[in-house]
Order: sequence, then C-alpha cells, then structure tokens
Amino acid sequence: MWKVSPTRLEDMCTAILRAAGASGHDARLVADHLVDNDILGHHSHGVIRLWDYIEAAHRGELIPDAGARIVNETPTTAQVDGGWALGQVVATFATDLAIEKARTAGVSVVTVRRVKHIGRLGRYAEQVAGAGLVSMIFTNGGGHGINQAPFRGTERRLCSNPIAMSVPSGLAGPFLLDMATSVAAEGKVRVYRARGVPTPPGWILDSDGNPSTDPEDFAEGGALLPLGRAEGHKGYALAFMVELLAGVMSGGGISGDPARSFSNDSMIVVIDPELFVPMAELEERSSILTEHLKDTRLADESQPVLYPGEPEAEARLANRGSDIELPDPVRQQLVSMLRRFSLPEPD
Ligand SMILES: NC(=O)c1ccc[n+]([C@@H]2O[C@H](COP(=O)([O-])OP(=O)(O)OC[C@H]3O[C@@H](n4cnc5c(N)ncnc54)[C@H](O)[C@@H]3O)[C@@H](O)[C@H]2O)c1
Repeated sequence: MWKVSPTRLEDMCTAILRAAGASGHDARLVADHLVDNDILGHHSHGVIRLWDYIEAAHRGELIPDAGARIVNETPTTAQVDGGWALGQVVATFATDLAIEKARTAGVSVVTVRRVKHIGRLGRYAEQVAGAGLVSMIFTNGGGHGINQAPFRGTERRLCSNPIAMSVPSGLAGPFLLDMATSVAAEGKVRVYRARGVPTPPGWILDSDGNPSTDPEDFAEGGALLPLGRAEGHKGYALAFMVELLAGVMSGGGISGDPARSFSNDSMIVVIDPELFVPMAELEERSSILTEHLKDTRLADESQPVLYPGEPEAEARLANRGSDIELPDPVRQQLVSMLRRFSLPEPD
C-alpha cells in the first residue's frame, strides 16, 4: 500500500488533468472529487478512476476542455447536454442548475446526457442538501459500462445503475442514500482486484455464469449480481427503472443500444422541503426518528445503528488531514500518467 497526503494527491491529479487539456478550474474540481471519495473510504470512486478518464480522453471519447450546454428549459426543468466533458464538471453544473430552479419554483427536474463518468452520486446529493433542499438522483451507463446481470440472468446486461437521495439533517452530515442497484459498485470489485483479494461471496458470476469470488473472473467478462442476492428481483427492478428515468428520459443511451459510448446519463430531482414542512420541524422529527432507530438492542454491541449518510459524515471527520492509503497498482498508474505528460513523479 502507498501512503500519500490528500493535498499532494489532489495536486498530482490536477496536474495530470490539466496536462490532458482540462482548465485549471475543472481539473481541480475533478481532482477534489476523486480525493474526497478516497477520504470517505469510497475508494471505488477515488483516484483509481483517473486512469480511465485519461485513457478515454486519449481515445477522444472524453473531451477535457468541453462544457455542458442547456438544450431546453422551463422554470422547473432543463435538459443538459454534457458535450462528453468531464462527468464531475457536468454533474456539478446540472446539480447547481436544479438547485437554482428549485429555489425559485419549489421543485425541479434536470436530465443530463452525453456525460462521462460522474463518480460518487452522493457528492451531488450532498451539494443539494447543503442548499437546504431534498434530492433524488438516478444514473445509468448510457448503454455501455454494462456489468450487472438481470435477475435470473447470468450475463452483463445493465450498468450498476446507482441511485442517490438526500434530506438535510441538522446532524454532522445529511441523510444520504447513495448506492448501486447491483450488490456493490463495480468499482468495489476493481478495488478488490487492485488489492489482490477475493470479493465477498454473492457479488459476482464468472463469464460462464458460475458464482465466483475471484475479481479476475469479473474483469474477464463476469457479471455483478443485482442488489438483494436471493431477492435480487428488487435490485434488478430498481436498475430497470433507472434505465427508464436516467437513460430514456434524458435522451441518452440505454442498455441494449450498442451504438452509444459510455455515458452517466442522469435525472436529478430537487424539492424544496419547506413547501411541505418547516425546516425546524423537518430536523426535529427526523432527529426523533433517528434516535428511535438507534435506541435498540444491538446484534453486536460494537456495531451501532447508523443513519444513512452517517458513515460518510464520520469518515470525513475522522480522515480529514490524514494520509490516504492506496494500493500499489493505483500508484503505478499515477506514475505512468505523470510520465506520459512529463510531470514530476512522487518520491
Ligand atoms: N457513477 C456511476 O456510474 C456509479 C455506479 C455505481 C455506483 N456508484 C457509486 O458507488 C458508490 C458505492 O456504491 P455501493 O452500492 O457500493 O454503496 P455502499 O454499499 O458503500 O453503500 C453506501 C450507502 O449506504 C449507507 N450506509 C453504509 N453503511 C450503513 C449503515 N451501517 N447504516 C446505514 N446506512 C449505511 C451509506 O451512507 C451510503 O448511503 C456510491 O457512491 C455510488 O454513487 C457510481
């Protein structure tokens, strides 16, 4: 494992993205997202992703100096074309737009298409909660990035089609649901692979459709199972709905549409909760709910009941300023990207 300070890591990622053509602002924003995800322990969406972004830019599939464009809007809605720009830049723009519209109109729905990997959806849900608003975000893989088997199937047919929701809390962090509809994010299998350890049972199938715990089997064409394992019909049904909301309704790609490039097509829904309940009452009642849930006999005394979003809030407090530990293959990828652009290498 490689230990590195978050600031140094962010500077290295920023330099690589700038050298690949991104503006200083956009390079810093993407680097901040990636490093912040590592700080939160969501290594599946941390710096491990940068290699793919740079490779996609090299192939011309990602345009680092492109920007998003509003193609159609009303006071409550907008359709955003991401122009194949850096996903985090486009999703931040679209989330800001949804926040602005919900602030004036009370609710908003913004769709995004032609957008590269947007990373951890929770980041945008946190952005909305930070503005005192409620969010629901749905994201697919634009018909590419296919890695999840449908319930009762054994081959890749869907992306891991994540969903995020957030509600402001008045606690250390917002109430935050942020999950793949597959049993785990595909990036988590990448992390197990980079660390050279098996995945938990029940996550993946090999390319012949047999259960496996070897991340290499997944890399060689295996599939992730839908969330719920034996009850995977629920994860699969959620993933299906995400295809419709994020893929069909954005005008982006859907699984089974092989002509498209990987795109994190999305639908962002923002609601002003104060149209329904004063903020003070929302915070008070959600705090009663949280306390009620925490005040229970525990299955394991060392494992308290948490509210959704609490792991991220705790990790942010605990890890800020500490060095980040990354697997050696991630360091090797960084070194290789720094060399490609003749940038200074880490010691
Ligand atoms: N961009 C993409 O295409 C894409 C695709 C799939 C997933 N992702 C991202 O991958 C990340 C990981 O997804 P995942 O499905 O592996 O998530 P996960 O299994 O790590 O679950 C995370 C969610 O569960 C909550 N949680 C965790 N432990 C909890 C506990 N004990 N009590 C209550 N709540 C708890 C967290 O607060 C969070 O909302 C997410 O950030 C997601 O947005 C992105």
